[in-house]
Amino acid sequence: MRVLILGAGGFIGSHLCEKMSSKHEVVAVDTCLDKIPPETQKSIQLYPWDIRGYRNEIEDLTKASDLIVDLIAYANPSIYVKRPLDVVDLNFFENHRIMEYCIRHHKRLVQFSTCEVYGMSGGSDIPFSEAETPLIMGPVKYQRWIYASGKQFLERIIYAHGAEGDLNYTIIRPFNFIGPRIDYLPIDGITGIPRVFSLFLSSLIDGNPLFLVDGGINRRSFTYIDDAIEAVMIIMENANSRFDRDIVNIGNPANEASIRQIGEMMRKIYIEITGKPCKSDLVEISGTDFYGAGYQDCDRRIPDISKLASCGWNPHISLEETLRKSMEYYLL
Ligand code: NAD
Ligand code: UGA
Repeated sequence: MRVLILGAGGFIGSHLCEKMSSKHEVVAVDTCLDKIPPETQKSIQLYPWDIRGYRNEIEDLTKASDLIVDLIAYANPSIYVKRPLDVVDLNFFENHRIMEYCIRHHKRLVQFSTCEVYGMSGGSDIPFSEAETPLIMGPVKYQRWIYASGKQFLERIIYAHGAEGDLNYTIIRPFNFIGPRIDYLPIDGITGIPRVFSLFLSSLIDGNPLFLVDGGINRRSFTYIDDAIEAVMIIMENANSRFDRDIVNIGNPANEASIRQIGEMMRKIYIEITGKPCKSDLVEISGTDFYGAGYQDCDRRIPDISKLASCGWNPHISLEETLRKSMEYYLL
């Protein structure tokens, strides 16, 4: 199978290229492809393009591929609040264009969405089910939701095309994947505040405080990247067309923790890995002070993973192992 991976140089994309290159023909597009391991780079096609400047070429690559995997997005919350229109432009309009190429050339699309589409659902809606759980966004003044709203609208349009019979797709909703290469460390100050794992690790290395937004009471389910990639491979290879015109959660329900617990675990693991004392205290801060006005949070999100479990997939890597393996990559 010839697979076009858009956003191939990112965290998930680079792992996907590595895993896929031994089994499939991979065509990788990203503004930066450095995260793809050198050995993998030798065996795949690389296009260091900004998709906005190469529209005709991307359409040609779509036409020449069997499967299109679209990972392109701004994916960290500080950007949703500080540059909301850039988020819509890239995450919605540019990805919509990719979807149109897939329709025009009759290609299956694997579209990366997000667990954030479940928004502020919770309570009896836990665990989140693809078919049943309502998608509840906060007020418009909280621009954090522009990311999830854009992804949700794209999902709805893709779904509608599927229902009308002119697009075959699978939408993936990832739940907080972490692992090696998640973000560049040290933080460069240009790409905005990275996701919590990277920020905590960066602070641990520099001896700065770990800031607990709104006291670190909010909870996430963290998924180790290797478990996640196995699931993505099952979806991409799509035996018996099992995932045609479907939406699928990928996450690890057993790895739920509050952000305060994550901070505490990372402090402990940092000491164990480095043998050095930890100079980073846990310091509480409001979401507005940390991210700026327009930030609002989801308090809890746990995936229902029964769709993938019915294909024999289950995540194996515990939360402790997930944090340890991810930290070792940067610290050793
Ligand atoms: P990432 O930021 O590491 O990867 C996105 C990639 O897109 C980057 O490499 C970036 O350079 C590339 N890109 C952005 N604009 C581009 C452009 N104009 N032209 C070419 N390339 C461009 O993020 P990720 O964690 O790998 O996430 C991938 C996808 O999965 C995103 O759509 C994200 O919203 C979604 N997602 C990820 C997670 C997670 O846990 N990592 C969770 C939910 C959703
Ligand atoms: C993430 C991002 O939107 C995307 O990467 C993705 O779509 C999705 O969710 C996902 O990874 O599944 P979020 O989980 O809020 O959103 O991302 P983080 O930045 O990792 O924040 C997690 C929690 O930690 C939030 O409650 C945040 O407020 C908190 N946090 C973050 C802190 O307490 N301290 C920090 O220094 C950073």
